[in-house]
Amino acid sequence: MTKKVLIINASPRKKGNIAQMVAEMTSEADARGAEVEVIEVQRLHVKPCVACMQCRAKGFCALPEDDAQRVLQLIKDCEAMVIAAPCYWGNIPGTLKLLFDRIVYGMMDESPRNFPLPLHKGKRCVLVSTSTTPWPLNILMHQSRGAIRAMKEICRYSGFKVVATIEKGGTRHNTTLAEREKNRCRKAVRKLLK
Ligand SMILES: Cc1cc2nc3c(=O)[nH]c(=O)nc-3n(C[C@H](O)[C@H](O)[C@H](O)COP(=O)(O)O)c2cc1C
Repeated sequence: MTKKVLIINASPRKKGNIAQMVAEMTSEADARGAEVEVIEVQRLHVKPCVACMQCRAKGFCALPEDDAQRVLQLIKDCEAMVIAAPCYWGNIPGTLKLLFDRIVYGMMDESPRNFPLPLHKGKRCVLVSTSTTPWPLNILMHQSRGAIRAMKEICRYSGFKVVATIEKGGTRHNTTLAEREKNRCRKAVRKLLK
C-alpha cells in the first residue's frame, strides 16, 4: 500500500541545509513509491494559541480556521512524518512551536485523570535539525540537540515513534550536504517506510 509521508520543513531558508535534507528525503520517498507532501512552515498562516483550553473539552479549536487545522488534517492522514527544524536559541523555531501549540487536541487526548493519551500510535517519525554550533558542541551544549529534544517531546506525547534523528552542526562553514549526509537522509527515509 502507498504510504503517505508528511514532511514539515520549519526552515525559512530555501537553500539551507534543512532544505537540502528535505529535498534528499523527498526524492528517496518518491523513488520508493510513497505519497509525499511537504509543508513549508514559513508560508503558513497560524494565529497563536490563546490558551482558552476549549479544544481539550470540545475536540476542536475555538479560533477561526487557519492553516493549523489544515496541517492537523495532514498529520491525521499521514502514516509517517518528518519534522525538519533548524536550532533557534537551542530550541525549535517559534513558527513551528506556534503550529504545534495550536493542534495539541489533535495530537494527544487526556484521560479523566489527566494522563496523556497519544492519538498517533503506530506512526513513524524522523527528526532533523541543524545549528551553526559545530559538532560535538551542537550535541553537548544542547543546540541542535535542544531542537531535537523539543521535537521528541511532541512525538512522545502524540505517539509517533522516532526511528531516526539527523543533526548537523557547523552549518556556517558547511553550507552544502556531504555525500554521507545525503546517505543518512536516504537511510532515514527507508526506516520511515518500513
Ligand atoms: C533566530 C535564530 C536563532 C538561532 N539560534 C541558534 C542557536 O541557539 N544555536 C546555534 O547553534 N545556531 C543558532 N542559529 C543558527 C541556525 O541554527 C543555523 O543557521 C542553521 O544551520 C540554519 O539552518 P538552515 O540553513 O538549514 O535553515 C540561529 C539562527 C536564527 C535565525
